[in-house]
Amino acid sequence: MEVAEGDEQQARGAAKIRPVMRSTDVVIIGAGAAGLMCAMTAAARGRRVLLLDSSNKPGKKILMSGGGRCNFTNMYAEPANFSSRNPHFCKSALARYTPWDFIALVDRHGVPYHEKKLGQLFCDNRSKDILNLLLDECRQAGVELHVTTAVREIARADAGYVLDTDLGEVTASSVVIATGGLSIPTLGATGFGYEIARRFGHTVLPTRAGLVPFTTSGELKELCAELTGTSVAAVVSCGEESFRENILFTHRGLSGPAILQISSFWHPGDTVTIDLLPDHDVLEWLQGRQAARPDSELKTVLGEVFTKKMATLLADRWFTSRPMKRYTPAELRGIADTLGAWPVVPAGTEGYRTAEVTLGGVDTREVSSKTMESVKSPGLYFIGEVLDVTGHLGGFNFQWAWASGHAAAQVA
Ligand code: FDA
Repeated sequence: MEVAEGDEQQARGAAKIRPVMRSTDVVIIGAGAAGLMCAMTAAARGRRVLLLDSSNKPGKKILMSGGGRCNFTNMYAEPANFSSRNPHFCKSALARYTPWDFIALVDRHGVPYHEKKLGQLFCDNRSKDILNLLLDECRQAGVELHVTTAVREIARADAGYVLDTDLGEVTASSVVIATGGLSIPTLGATGFGYEIARRFGHTVLPTRAGLVPFTTSGELKELCAELTGTSVAAVVSCGEESFRENILFTHRGLSGPAILQISSFWHPGDTVTIDLLPDHDVLEWLQGRQAARPDSELKTVLGEVFTKKMATLLADRWFTSRPMKRYTPAELRGIADTLGAWPVVPAGTEGYRTAEVTLGGVDTREVSSKTMESVKSPGLYFIGEVLDVTGHLGGFNFQWAWASGHAAAQVA
């Protein structure tokens, strides 16, 4: 693989004087998770593959992912772990390239990993192991990768497409759009994939930030700020969806895995319900503590299940802490209701600045679920996050990138 870095200026200069004309089989736009998988697989089939990225490095999100250890798949990935306007779309690709296929690849490269929890596989060392593995595969298969290389225009040509790029004019029989979503613009995210989709007659479903922390306002924001850094196991629900995981108080609002998960199902104005004591029948527990420790203050009793700071804050703010014997049965029920189903109306989310994914995107009803090919424009493919397929937290989004990239590579 030729990794041409920093060739943008050179190519631009050359393009001004004499546009370079080249021809290849497949141009893939976006060298992220899906683009790299597609490139290495198509090239291994003998296709000539040109992989272009406007960023200065490939796979930046892979490097950032999983807190630097890349949660590269989930052993239990299944269609129910993905959201889409068209929930059946992801089934075929996920069935044909499973987590075990990717695990076998990771094993072949000797990358050490472990299951953190709930089927989530993380690198033992660093995310770079996954990126290096993909780059090695691309190199061995003869993929030509150019970073810092923009694509300005894509148009239909006689036998495929012609692209106006920083390398000059490129013709190809297949073009694969792997430009990802809008989250974290500083990592190279652009709306280019959506623009191309629209230009070729595709519907782009409204996009919004997913797997993203909530912001809060007023008293709730104060409470969150005072508890910054406190993490607590909870069940968080919104509408029909519920997730059991930790929540984390931050100076801006609420985060942690359970909050990120539910954020993908939240719409402005919705109430999120948080069960702060999911392992307890809260009323029964409070009644038991009232009988056993009538003179203990509520804050002391709550200190058995929360940190001291959280117990004190909640008891004082919400229930005017006093000895347990001084709460009436109705008051005790009220406390149980609040702790078991704390209603929270977020002010908003932190948006694309910190979101892990983008919900919505290219409407999958206009894309083949077997090949990822556009039904509007033969030879044009969409893979990865640019499509309206979004996984839950826990390695599912990478599994979708691998599976959709692999599917397109069989035919592109
Ligand atoms: P991806 O975003 O990876 O790649 C798109 C590529 O296209 C980028 O290289 C970009 O530079 C390029 N590009 C954009 N516009 C272009 C243009 N106009 N021209 C050329 N190139 C262009 N998921 C998971 O399963 N496990 C995890 O641990 C994490 N952790 C995580 C952490 C953080 C901080 C984020 C932001 C996200 C995650 N994710 C995750 C989500 C996961 O990273 C994401 O779903 C995949 O990277 C999507 O893969 P794609 O290849 O579709 O897009």
